[in-house]
Amino acid sequence: MKKILFVGAEAMPFAATGGLGDVLGSLPAALAKEGSDVRVIMPLYGQVKEEWRAKMKTEAVFTVNLAWRQVYCGIKSLKKDGVIYYFVDNEYYFKRDALYGSFDDGERFAYFSMAVMEALVQLDFYPDVLHAHDWQAALSVVYLNCLYRDKVGYKDIRSVFTIHNIEYQGQYNFGILGDVFGLGFEQYELMDFGGCINLMKAAIVSADIVSTVSPRYAEEICTPSFGRGLDGILRQNRHKLCGILNGIDYQYYNPGQDAAIPVRYNWRTRAKKPENKLALQAALDLPARRDVPMLAVITRLVAHKGLDIMTEIFSKLIGESDIQLVVLGCGEASFEHYFTELARCFPDKVRVLLKYDRDLAKQIYAACDIFLMPSKSEPCGLSQMIASRYGAIPVVRETGGLYDSIKGYWEEGKKIHGNGFTFANYSGAELYERTNAAIALWRNEEKRDKLISKIMRTDFSWAAAARDYLSMYDQI
Ligand code: GLC
Repeated sequence: MKKILFVGAEAMPFAATGGLGDVLGSLPAALAKEGSDVRVIMPLYGQVKEEWRAKMKTEAVFTVNLAWRQVYCGIKSLKKDGVIYYFVDNEYYFKRDALYGSFDDGERFAYFSMAVMEALVQLDFYPDVLHAHDWQAALSVVYLNCLYRDKVGYKDIRSVFTIHNIEYQGQYNFGILGDVFGLGFEQYELMDFGGCINLMKAAIVSADIVSTVSPRYAEEICTPSFGRGLDGILRQNRHKLCGILNGIDYQYYNPGQDAAIPVRYNWRTRAKKPENKLALQAALDLPARRDVPMLAVITRLVAHKGLDIMTEIFSKLIGESDIQLVVLGCGEASFEHYFTELARCFPDKVRVLLKYDRDLAKQIYAACDIFLMPSKSEPCGLSQMIASRYGAIPVVRETGGLYDSIKGYWEEGKKIHGNGFTFANYSGAELYERTNAAIALWRNEEKRDKLISKIMRTDFSWAAAARDYLSMYDQI
C-alpha cells in the first residue's frame, strides 16, 4: 500500500481560510478510497474547535531544534474518512488571532516544517511520498533534501510540491537564513531568488515533481504574465511540472442533503431551487420575485479575482437590467467601499455582505441563478464547480482551472454544448457581453432548464483527480 503524507497549512473542517483548506480536507479521503495510506499533517491552531480536540489523542511529545532554538512540539492525531490527521501542537506559534499574517510567519512555518521532519521518527511513519502544499510547507521539502536525506528512513522518500497559488511565495531577507531557517551558506544558491530567500522557488527546485491544481495553470505559470517572476525557474523545471484539476467535496457540497440551505434539491428536483432564492430575498430584504435573475459573486475582494472589470461594468449592467446582485466576501478597502456604494445606489437590486461565512455562501449558491467569476488568474477555482453543483450558471474568464472546468455554451440544433458562459480577454466589455448572454438564456425557460440540468450533472467529484495523483506518485 502506498504511503502518502500531505503537509499543509490548513484543512477543512479543522481550520481553513480558502481553497487550500478545501483540497486538504477532501482529496486525502478520495486517495484513501483508492486504497492508499494517506495521512495529513498541519498546525494545531487555536481556531481548531473543541469538538475536534476532544477526539484527538497524543502521539508524541518532543523537542524540535530550529537554528539555535529548542522548541516544544506535541503531535496529536485523529482519524476522519479513512485518513489520519496529525496536528503539530505549539501554542506559542499557533495560538494566534488568525492563521496567517503574523510578523513571524516565516519562523512559524519553518518550525512547522522541521516538526514534520522530526515527527516521522517519532511516529515511525516514513511515507513513500511527502506531498507538500504551497509556500508554508515548502521548507519540509528543502529540509528533507538538505538536512535529512542521510538519516535512516528518509533516504527513499520522494517529494511532490503543489502550487495552489503562485501569488504567495514566502519571500524573506537573507539575514534570517541561518538564524530562523536553520540553513547554511551551502544552501544559499538554492534559497536565493533575486537576492531574497524565496521558499517556493527552493521547493520547486528541490521536489521530484511540481504540480499545480489545473493543467492550464501549469502552462500559464511558465509565462511571464502568470509566473509572478518564477516563470524562468518553472521553465527550467518543466520536465517535472504537471497540472491536475481539483475536484470538490461531493458530501459537503450537496444541495440534496445540505443542512445549511432552506430547501434541498438535486438535478431531478431542480424545480425546487427557486424556493431558495425566495428565502434569501426574504432574509436580505430584497423584493421577493421568482422571475428576476439573481446574480452572485462570492470571492475575496482582491484585484486578481477580477474585481477591476466587475467594478467597471456593474453600475451600467444593474442600472439597465431587471436583475438582482448579491455579493459575499471581504478584502481590499477600495473594493469594499465600491460595493457598499453600489448597494446604496440600488437598494432594490443589490445586497453586499462584507464577510466570509461558509453557510451563507452555500445559501447564496443555492439561491442564485448566475454566478460570476471573471478572474484575471485562477489556479483552479472551486466556486465555479460549487455553483454548478447548486445549479447556477457560471460566467467565467478562460484562465487556469476556469478554462479547464467550464466550456462556453452553444447550440447545435436541439443539442446544447458547454456548461456555462466564458470569455477570453480580461475586459469589462467581454464580461458585460457574456453576462447579458447568460441573462438572456436564463429568461428562456426551456433553454434554462436544459442547461441547468446539464450543469448540475457535470462531474466535479474527486474520483478522476485521485486516480491522476496516484499515477503521478507511481512515476516517482
Ligand atoms: C488557491 C487558488 C484556487 C484553488 C485553491 C485550491 O486558493 O487560488 O484557485 O482552487 O487554491 O487548490
